Amino acid sequence: MTHPTPHSRKLLKLGRSEPSLMSGRRAFLRRFGTGWLLVLMGGCGKTSSAGFQNIGSLKLLEEEGKIFSEHFSSEPLLVIRGPKKKNSSEIGVLSAVSPTCSHQKCLVNWDNVQESFICPCHQSRFDITGKHLQGPATENLKTYPIEVRGDDIWVAGRFQ
Ligand code: FES
Repeated sequence: MTHPTPHSRKLLKLGRSEPSLMSGRRAFLRRFGTGWLLVLMGGCGKTSSAGFQNIGSLKLLEEEGKIFSEHFSSEPLLVIRGPKKKNSSEIGVLSAVSPTCSHQKCLVNWDNVQESFICPCHQSRFDITGKHLQGPATENLKTYPIEVRGDDIWVAGRFQ
């Protein structure tokens, strides 16, 4: 049988008196631990109060040619950068759309040559704003609000 050390006796004493001495916040922290707090703080850096999420950087978009997320909101997300003038330091036009085609739900791709979103299934075509140009689709692509903050791209998980 082991005997309690002076330190463990102190902890036991504190444990007995905790319910009456701890405030609600302290009781919450004691019960759920600081891991819960770290999760909340980690999330703050990725999502703003207006529902914008950091989905990557301009550098990543430049390297990859697009940013795609299958489970961004209720629908997938495709971010592309439109053509920019040669030797221009401008960012150019960014477009954030749901790539789900309104015809039979295939996923469209951005075509740099035709400067359009093209559906691979039945060739519906949409401009950089998601506006339907031709093909059997009957609706425009849904678009998400998009912002550039520094080098980061932020997209809101709702449609415009
Ligand atoms: S699914 Fe896109 S054109 Fe048919």
